[in-house]
Amino acid sequence: MITTFKKGSGLSAVLGLAIAAASHGAAADCSYSISNEWSSGYTAEITVTNDGNSTVNGWDVNWQYNSNQLTNSWNAQISGSNPYTATDMGWNGTLQPGQSVSFGFQGNKNGGSAEQPTLEGTLCDGGTSSSSASSVASSVASSEAQSSSVSSAPDGEGLQCNWYGTTYSLCSDTQSGWGYEDGESCVSRTTCESQPAPYGVVGGNNSSSESSVASSVSSSVSSSVSSSVSSSVSSSVSSSASSASSSAPDGDYVRVDNPFEGTQMYVNPMWSENAMARPGGEAIANEPSAVWMDRRGAITDGIGLKGHLDEALNQGAETFMFVVYNLPNRDCAALASNGELRISENGFQLYQDEYIAPIKEILSLPKYSDLHIVAIIEVDSLPNLVTNLDEPDCQEAAGPGGYADGIQHALNELGDLPNVYSYVDIAHSGWLGWSDNFSEAVQLIGDTVKGTEKGVDSIAGYVTNSANYTPLEEPYLPDPSLQVGGQPVRSASFYEWNPYFGELEFAQDWRDAMIQNGFPSDIGMLIDTGRNGWGGPDRPTGVSDSSDLDTYVDESRIDRRYHRGNWCNQPGGVGERPQANPAPGIDAYVWVKPQGESDGISTADFEPDPNDPAKQHDPMCGPDENNPDAGVPTGALPNAPHAGRWFPEAFDLLLDNAYPPLD
Ligand code: GLC
Repeated sequence: MITTFKKGSGLSAVLGLAIAAASHGAAADCSYSISNEWSSGYTAEITVTNDGNSTVNGWDVNWQYNSNQLTNSWNAQISGSNPYTATDMGWNGTLQPGQSVSFGFQGNKNGGSAEQPTLEGTLCDGGTSSSSASSVASSVASSEAQSSSVSSAPDGEGLQCNWYGTTYSLCSDTQSGWGYEDGESCVSRTTCESQPAPYGVVGGNNSSSESSVASSVSSSVSSSVSSSVSSSVSSSVSSSASSASSSAPDGDYVRVDNPFEGTQMYVNPMWSENAMARPGGEAIANEPSAVWMDRRGAITDGIGLKGHLDEALNQGAETFMFVVYNLPNRDCAALASNGELRISENGFQLYQDEYIAPIKEILSLPKYSDLHIVAIIEVDSLPNLVTNLDEPDCQEAAGPGGYADGIQHALNELGDLPNVYSYVDIAHSGWLGWSDNFSEAVQLIGDTVKGTEKGVDSIAGYVTNSANYTPLEEPYLPDPSLQVGGQPVRSASFYEWNPYFGELEFAQDWRDAMIQNGFPSDIGMLIDTGRNGWGGPDRPTGVSDSSDLDTYVDESRIDRRYHRGNWCNQPGGVGERPQANPAPGIDAYVWVKPQGESDGISTADFEPDPNDPAKQHDPMCGPDENNPDAGVPTGALPNAPHAGRWFPEAFDLLLDNAYPPLD
């Protein structure tokens, strides 16, 4: 539920009831707002404002509940067990006069309702002292670190393991004690030390020892941020300057041709946690993948976009990739990822004001100005306008305030930032590969981009196969025109005359077609290879010797789906690891859809997702249903949660079927 969007309040009021309960005290500038509430729990945010005249270095907030109990938090250190104390994270401890910071948490209602406690603390009481709060922070940190490991933290109190240099959502679980969030459940961690750092942190602490926990809690976060930023990013800029395009940089930032080349990419620690918690998951847990901004709330919930970007700086990452995915009438030809905005309900305006604007505001912060920020623009949207105009929702999306307007707005706004590289989604070869679809899409998508303020220069390129399973190529079916049983291979049932069997050639031909269509020759392509590996026991090892065309194709193809249109929770495998410049015209293989996140809920009888109540069951996600267009089974895995939610069985299968195989 949306009330108003408050600028300058850390975007905290985007979602929620926004019950701003000012605490007592003259300069009462701590407010508590319940962002979301459901039968057993709630999320809330506290906003702290420095309304004095001098800079504040460090803050704390204290409060007590009658029955509520915290389970996890973000953007603040929480200590105590009712009363609770929240202290700054180091990087958000400095508040200039007038500046605000927000942090959030989740809790159990314990049978009561979501409470509205009174807030006290350095700033809440009108105090402006700068040193007291940070000394609170460091004393809290060191006493916790000395006293406990995660497993011994008592219920309601948490030590935050800090091997990334920032803290993560701790959650409590009566069976396993304290742990880390694994989707909706709590994964227990025995000690901080036993967890290997999932990736190297440049200039940060990755030793995961208790002393590093202690120091990082209060002080080393900000110093590791500044040291890693100044060293690694500046060197990447200078080293990539040789490949820089001619476009004039704003400020000091030198725009490069390929934002992936020679750079370290951001690893999403939330996904990494989930991956690490699965058997064998460490084989890919250190790999970079995209962060999805799939609703307005995603901008601030959890660590939010800002938290991810800060974490990227902390990792010493040079390239950060995120997905812009919230158009009105989203997913217009399906149900699984229907979104929060509707064209008929002022969706285009809300998209501009409450989605793109706050994203832009965050991306514009000077501290991120050296990062290459890659934006994946609106998965599956324009392709739906090519092939699915028989759907009323898509028809509407083809009109005013629909997909083209939304995408042009996003490109215009992001185009103001010299370090943002937008790649527009073009679905995949199994969708747009037929020549009529292909040429119509080149026209429609080309025109959409040309209609922006910067025209063809508003994008870095296009991205294929986002969240899909189409392989890069079919190694045993290299020639779609080859005659088998007197027919070309492409005429087999599985290919339905589509001349493209894989993403690589499709992407390269798309790029050529767009260059012919007036786009600059430095556009590049991305391909999502997160789930298109198709290894495992059922992968063919050679070409079939059958003379029956369909048998020949079915025995030779690595894509094991019943139909190429099957998109929901397929038993694919992890594909090529993310890498820059893998083939001519391809800027990078990337992981857009994080492995182990569902494509859609399997059952028709479902509870709505509290974050995304518009998401529904799509028949394509039903394991016992048929693909209605093709009359073949969907092949969807059973027991899948809502789209985007952690689906560990799918993750495990993707690992088993990885190709190239994992070490
Ligand atoms: C799906 C979901 C979206 C999620 C994304 C990544 O498209 O609809 O909410 O963020 O997948 O898992």
